[in-house]
Amino acid sequence: MRIDVVTIFPDYLAPLGLSLIGRAREQGILDLHVHDLRSWTDDRHRTVDDTPYGGGAGMLMKPEPWGRALDAVRAAGPEGVRPTLVVPTPAGPPFSQPRARAYAARPWLVFACGRYEGIDARVALEAATAYDVEELSLGDYVLNGGEVAVLAVVEAVARLLPGVVGNAESLVEESHETGLLEAPAYTKPAVWRGHAVPDVLLSGHHAAVARWRRDEALRRTAAVRPDLLAALPEGALDAADRQV
Ligand code: ADE
Repeated sequence: MRIDVVTIFPDYLAPLGLSLIGRAREQGILDLHVHDLRSWTDDRHRTVDDTPYGGGAGMLMKPEPWGRALDAVRAAGPEGVRPTLVVPTPAGPPFSQPRARAYAARPWLVFACGRYEGIDARVALEAATAYDVEELSLGDYVLNGGEVAVLAVVEAVARLLPGVVGNAESLVEESHETGLLEAPAYTKPAVWRGHAVPDVLLSGHHAAVARWRRDEALRRTAAVRPDLLAALPEGALDAADRQV
């Protein structure tokens, strides 16, 4: 998969050279390019922002550097592949595990990191001629720019690519993959500071362990995220689930 990120703070994306993502890049699973938006400015001060029409606080990102950047990124990528342009913004629909899965199946993602009060709205309109444009929000709070959202989204997407996470089975039971939050987990020692691991996990009885994990997942989800339980598809809960 190819990923391009356009930002005025390329250093913000440095963590994408570390850990599993860094290794995926070395292995050629992920072809990731970070670009400095200012290299597409044309004035001495490398200006990327200006005041908003209609007044109001703060500055907006100017369209011209973005237009040139997105043209150049598109032209440098593979031919015949329509890239997805992802624009992180608190005004977008919330990012989620299904969206991470959908992105992991796409060949080419380009991220446009806004700063200040965002990007002139014509940039997304214009980009739609060459890109599938999608906005997304990391959550209902305001960040200083899109970079931290890109770190989160790239990590969520890249770990779904085959070969990035060593044990693919570990992806299946995770929170949000099943539609539920996952059960609490324990490792050795069996008793730590007086707290014992639940007996069933030491029993070696696989069906009982699976039932316990399912029950705990249901309880935790009901307590912390009742909205997720309500959103489960018809038939997702069986009679045993409904006993919990
Ligand atoms: N940029 C600023 N705040 C953001 C958020 N919550 N999600 C995505 N991008 C953002």
